[in-house]
This record gives sequence, structure tokens and C-alpha cells, in this order.
Amino acid sequence: MPAPLLAHLADLDATGGLAIALPDGRAGFLVRVHGRLYGYENRCPHRDSRLDIDANRFLADGGELIQCAHHGALFLPENGECVAGPCQYESLEPLALRVDDQGGIYLASE
Ligand code: FES
Repeated sequence: MPAPLLAHLADLDATGGLAIALPDGRAGFLVRVHGRLYGYENRCPHRDSRLDIDANRFLADGGELIQCAHHGALFLPENGECVAGPCQYESLEPLALRVDDQGGIYLASE
């Protein structure tokens, strides 16, 4: 069975981020930083809550770091490590992604 389509690259154009539903029912999110796509489970290691409050806002001002809207934890987009805030040195759970020729975004198959 083919992997379900999660989103399209163009869906990230407005804010650089996008909340998504994963096929197994978990919440996820995507961000694009310097043209590269990253995806994580939408669960902050500080309080096990979603990172977003405003729709599809996952990036700090400047667009370089992922930010939890609740208490401001900052995460590296490259590996999900928290570099500042109440969960420093903990990490987001990464998603392995695949992008097809039309910009469709899927979970990468193992
Ligand atoms: S819930 Fe994310 S920083 Fe507190």
C-alpha cells in the first residue's frame, strides 16, 4: 500500500510550518528552514503538549529555530535538540520524510 500523502511543499509557504496528522493518529509538524524540509512529532518534551498555539506557527522570529509557543523552548531544525528553554538537551521525535517530484510529502518507508 503506498504511503499516504501528508502535505505538499506549497502548504508551508505561508508560515514556513505546517501541522499535520500522521497515519498512526499522532500529531506531527513540518518546517522548512533554508529551503530544507524537516518533520517532527508535535509533542514538546517539556510538557508533552503540542508546540503550536497559533495555526502553523512552529518557527521562532527569524525562521531559523523551531519554537514551542507555550514556554518558548527553542529547537534545532536539523536534529530537534532543544538548545534553550525548560527542556534544554531533550529532543523532539523526528519523522523520516520523502518528497516526490511534484512536492508531495510522505513518510519515508523503512
Ligand atoms: S510545553 Fe513546550 S516549552 Fe513548555
